[in-house]
Amino acid sequence: MKHLIPEFEKLKKRYPAGLDSALVLPCLHRIQADRGYVADEDIDGLCEFLRVPRIQVEEVLSYYTMFRRKPVGRWHLQVCRNVSCSMRGAERLIGHVCKRAGVSQPGQTSADGRFTVSTVECLGSCGTAPVLVVNETYHENMDAAKTDALLEGLK
Ligand code: FES
Repeated sequence: MKHLIPEFEKLKKRYPAGLDSALVLPCLHRIQADRGYVADEDIDGLCEFLRVPRIQVEEVLSYYTMFRRKPVGRWHLQVCRNVSCSMRGAERLIGHVCKRAGVSQPGQTSADGRFTVSTVECLGSCGTAPVLVVNETYHENMDAAKTDALLEGLK
């Protein structure tokens, strides 16, 4: 992440002096956009740059499910498993997504590296449950047929 330091320095100028810890979130977003996930060495570098304790970065990473700690496939399929989605068939959808992606359970990446399947908590789209997010794009009111059509369109 050392090559991102000049960007982080510019970002730092937009924040009040002494509030470097407020930069943890935007810096982590930028790191993930660059590498695809947040590696241990990124955490070390960020702590050194911001002069914040490691636990402060680890807390952010463990709280927000959008941050990844390991590489994912070309397509990251995230299925909400929270209450509204569960009431509208999320468990069936999770099983179907796993089957179509070629993994046996969430948390795995297909052998060809195309798909990683994850379950996540509420995505804030309960009115259109169940929800499947592919990389950054929401797909709502999902079912098996819509999932099949969606995955067939992913190259
Ligand atoms: S419960 Fe799934 S989006 Fe809210």
